[in-house]
Amino acid sequence: MKYSAIKKDLYIDNRKNFSKHLKPNSLALFVSNDILPTNGDGSLGFIQNSDLLHLSGVDQEDTILLIYPDAKDGKQKEILFIKETSELIAIWEGAKLTKQQATDVSGISNIMWFHEFEKTFKAIGFQAEHFYLNSNEHTRRYIDMETAEMRFNKKIMSQFPLHHIERSAPIMHRIRSIKHPIEIELMQQACNITEKGFRRLLSFTKPGVMEYEIEAELIHEFVRNRSRGFAYGPIIASGGNACVLHYVENNKECKDGDVILLDVAAEYGNYASDMTRCIPVSGKFTKRQREVYDAVLRVMKGAAAILKPGNTFEKYNAAVGDMMTKELIQLGLITEQDVKNQNPAWPAYKKYFMHGTSHFIGLDVHDVGFFAEPMQVGMAFTIEPGIYIPEENLGIRLENNYIITATGNDDLMKNIPLEADEIEALMAK
Ligand code: GLY
Ligand code: MN
Ligand code: MN
Repeated sequence: MKYSAIKKDLYIDNRKNFSKHLKPNSLALFVSNDILPTNGDGSLGFIQNSDLLHLSGVDQEDTILLIYPDAKDGKQKEILFIKETSELIAIWEGAKLTKQQATDVSGISNIMWFHEFEKTFKAIGFQAEHFYLNSNEHTRRYIDMETAEMRFNKKIMSQFPLHHIERSAPIMHRIRSIKHPIEIELMQQACNITEKGFRRLLSFTKPGVMEYEIEAELIHEFVRNRSRGFAYGPIIASGGNACVLHYVENNKECKDGDVILLDVAAEYGNYASDMTRCIPVSGKFTKRQREVYDAVLRVMKGAAAILKPGNTFEKYNAAVGDMMTKELIQLGLITEQDVKNQNPAWPAYKKYFMHGTSHFIGLDVHDVGFFAEPMQVGMAFTIEPGIYIPEENLGIRLENNYIITATGNDDLMKNIPLEADEIEALMAK
């Protein structure tokens, strides 16, 4: 891991918080993700299960967390099973956490080896009445394979067929959606690394540069600041490429006169940041580009003014839609008539702004949380309005990350240049 040690208080507090939601005499289990194979003896880099990470801080494979708050034997209230290590294993397979290190990371005192789980669990499982098992309940999940979690759940349910099975996911969505002060610090760090990357590319970008050269500048800056890298596939889209919402090729030349849309951000300590900026290749926006840029920026600021405790997404999205409608009319992209005749299920503004304005952010870039419930202090969201005009070879999106506070919100990206004038001034240096 490149990131500095995270205070274990975070995980102790998260487990306490989780346990409050369990029925009496319940036992919860969380398992690590697989290391996914590629070809030959290759594998993809390891990404931990976000819920296991949230409750333990353990960032390695072959990990199981058992939480049993009502256990009669105090040592069984929390057990962490980790991959066995020894001096010999460390030489061949690389360092894994020792039992002491696992305690230091997680705050859990009872650490056992992964291969001891089955035998241990047989002795404990029958004492509990309910098992809380976890599964990916992200509303936009796409899983075309059996995950480690699915295999694990199947096994538990076949070995204990008459236990009551409960879902951990709704509890995890609730507790993960409210950020702990330590998490907010980590998210701020991710944003600060993103800022360094963005400032670096402002002085680097000029006509003729390739989109992938900008990607290389960013990854260089991210990794040297202890990030694993991009928090999601970077989008570096010049000219009309910006109108392809999931453009990831990043292989075109940036041409004089074009604007580059950069949806690029660093992760830090497994926490995502998610930033979008648009910069002129030449260093100066044309009049029209500037008009569209400022329209998007006004919508972003308007949305930020109503991203606050108590607001609902239904009201928020409707208000942002109204702001965008006004801007698009002013830009001459839609007419009052279009708005009068619009289909309420797909309003006229959707022709140029077809994606959502905000999503939860945290351990996952599209983090978990309940959109149907009012915004609460401690929640973290993006704001990311955009206007995409393929016929003008232009797409503008701006995106920052916010924490809801008692009085409104705190913009974690307030130090990242955003005003068009500031971007032009920095590019001119
Ligand atoms: N970068 C992904 C998103 O903006 O949602
Ligand atoms: Mn986003
Ligand atoms: Mn983004």
